[in-house]
Amino acid sequence: MLLIKNIKKLVQTEDTTRTRVSGKDMAVLPCIDDAWLLAENGLIADFGTMRELKTDNRGLNSNDGIEQMDAGGRLVFPSFCDPHTHLVYAGSREIEYIDKIRGLSYEEISKRGGGILNSAKLLRQTPEEELYRQSLERVNEIMMLGTGSVEIKSGYGLTVEDELKMLRVIRRLKETTPLVIRSSFLGAHSLPAEFRGRRKEYVDLVINQMIPAVAGENLADFIDVFCDRGFFTVEDTERILEAGSKYGLRGKIHANELDFSGGIQAGVRYNALSVDHLEFTGEEEIEALLGSGTMPTLLPGAAFFLGMEYPPARKMIDSGLPVAMASDYNPGSSPSGNMKFIMSLGCIKLRMLPEEAVNAVTVNAAYAMGVGEIAGSVARGKKANLFITKEIPGYEFMPYAFGSNLIDRVILEGKEVHFP
Ligand code: NIG
Ligand code: FE
Repeated sequence: MLLIKNIKKLVQTEDTTRTRVSGKDMAVLPCIDDAWLLAENGLIADFGTMRELKTDNRGLNSNDGIEQMDAGGRLVFPSFCDPHTHLVYAGSREIEYIDKIRGLSYEEISKRGGGILNSAKLLRQTPEEELYRQSLERVNEIMMLGTGSVEIKSGYGLTVEDELKMLRVIRRLKETTPLVIRSSFLGAHSLPAEFRGRRKEYVDLVINQMIPAVAGENLADFIDVFCDRGFFTVEDTERILEAGSKYGLRGKIHANELDFSGGIQAGVRYNALSVDHLEFTGEEEIEALLGSGTMPTLLPGAAFFLGMEYPPARKMIDSGLPVAMASDYNPGSSPSGNMKFIMSLGCIKLRMLPEEAVNAVTVNAAYAMGVGEIAGSVARGKKANLFITKEIPGYEFMPYAFGSNLIDRVILEGKEVHFP
């Protein structure tokens, strides 16, 4: 048992859990001032105000068996949920980043065989053990930055064996770290060089061999497709979503990053759990999303890093939509898994209010990776995955101080995580 006392503000508290927060409600962030929280068996057992704790004599002030932690006037947040990453990859791509500075676009780099295919080449040469080691370092890094749940995709293998290798690494990360991890199979991330000019044949390979192999080993929770100009078409996407659904794999797809690709509508038609990126979103796309169960998930780190258009988050929220945010942690378009910085981009570049940004990286992000029942808020029965901030005036300070590390202590499954 762990009792955290003297919390200046306990952020994102729920008495009854909400599956997601939409439209105007996104500007509301429920908090308790001067609070305590009790974790038991890795779960949040209870929380309330210090005044109640002092008066109702629950025995929580005695020392028997209860580890006590004094938050000393600091804030407590539920851990961030990061519902879209590619953090299992080999090496890095800072050389392309220099090409980008010199003026090449993401698509131009990709057409030259760089980009995703560059990472695929490196990944294929990297033994599974080494891939695990590199990825574990990134997982430890994001844990320190306050993330408690993360979705990780395959998609740099692009052969049956190498996709399986990536997914096995994700499974091993699930087994060996205290984070909540979900995996997505992204065989249709890019057309591998050996299939140039034979896109349909590659999609056939994804459908006929990769999906059954992945499902056979139960290696994926979701299925993803990069549905965009120059990558995969709406037709490819629908075929893959259809094939995935036969194995119970719900879609979480990359859509409308480079153009009005039709990917958002395709995702909604197939009841995808989320459609992600959405830099190109107009009235029709918003209309399609309204009333659907598909979470629009924005990745402002990618638009920031590539110097591209940002998605119209303000318009989406003002139209009544929910919005989630994720880091997209990957070597090509967003080499960072810092969700606090993503909140800053949400506020500064997407014109979201701090409350909206917090909702986008907690409750709505948990929904977007299918872990809403166990993560994403401070609610009784959810996992005790939390972080304690440094001394700050209020939650608004988190996105405001965009370059400061304000996370002081990390608690996962009710236990403090110590970093070397
Ligand atoms: O989400 N857009 C497609 N995939 C990744 C980029 C992956 C890469 O460049 O390695 C993204 O931005
Ligand atoms: Fe991505």
